[in-house]
Amino acid sequence: MKLQLPEGYEMNNQNLINWINEKLEEGNTFFLLMSGNTGSGKSYLMQAILNSMNCKSTGGIPFTPQIIDCVELANDYVTAIRTSISDDICACENKFDSRYVFIDDLGREPKTQGANDLFLRLLYRLHSSIKIGKTCVCVITTNMGADEITNRYDPAIMSRLYEVFHFHEMKPKDFRKLKMDIGKY
Ligand SMILES: Nc1ncnc2c1ncn2[C@@H]1O[C@H](COP(=O)(O)OP(=O)(O)OP(=O)(O)O)[C@@H](O)[C@H]1O
Ligand SMILES: [Mg+2]
Repeated sequence: MKLQLPEGYEMNNQNLINWINEKLEEGNTFFLLMSGNTGSGKSYLMQAILNSMNCKSTGGIPFTPQIIDCVELANDYVTAIRTSISDDICACENKFDSRYVFIDDLGREPKTQGANDLFLRLLYRLHSSIKIGKTCVCVITTNMGADEITNRYDPAIMSRLYEVFHFHEMKPKDFRKLKMDIGKY
């Protein structure tokens, strides 16, 4: 299995692309946390990884995992709590419990105590799930650096994320702005 990149993809993170390809060749087990400024290409690359993988359920049935949007998840959780629908609350709390977990925009959820508590719990569960081999692939994108993750959630979770994740900082480039600037001339 090889990473299939979209047409016109600029190879500005060659080391990371090499690492992903190595992992994909070895098999379906890898854990990647991409950190970087807005427009640096985190979600774009995460989608490319997802598109390149043959994800299979425990029963061997192929499926396409959904990307979890952290803002949406936080909103769903607030609604589920407000309406006291326990199935919906459970669905949010089980959101990171899967063989393939793709989490977009960690830290962009609102800075409320409720959202913070939820994400901290989910991250601890994710770490345990990776440790016992229940989760075999996880990709996380975030605008936060390691220090911000520590401050936002807690130092113990950052230490655990370091333990299991390949931590990659994207080059500080904004592809959106670049495309807009090119369009101007
Ligand atoms: N390596 C690349 N080569 C060419 N275009 C790219 C590349 N990476 C990203 N882009 C373009 O830039 C756009 C923005 O990238 P992306 O959505 O991945 O940013 P992001 O890092 O997730 O930003 P945010 O933190 O705001 O979510 C993409 O939709 C794509 O068009
Ligand atoms: Mg993004």
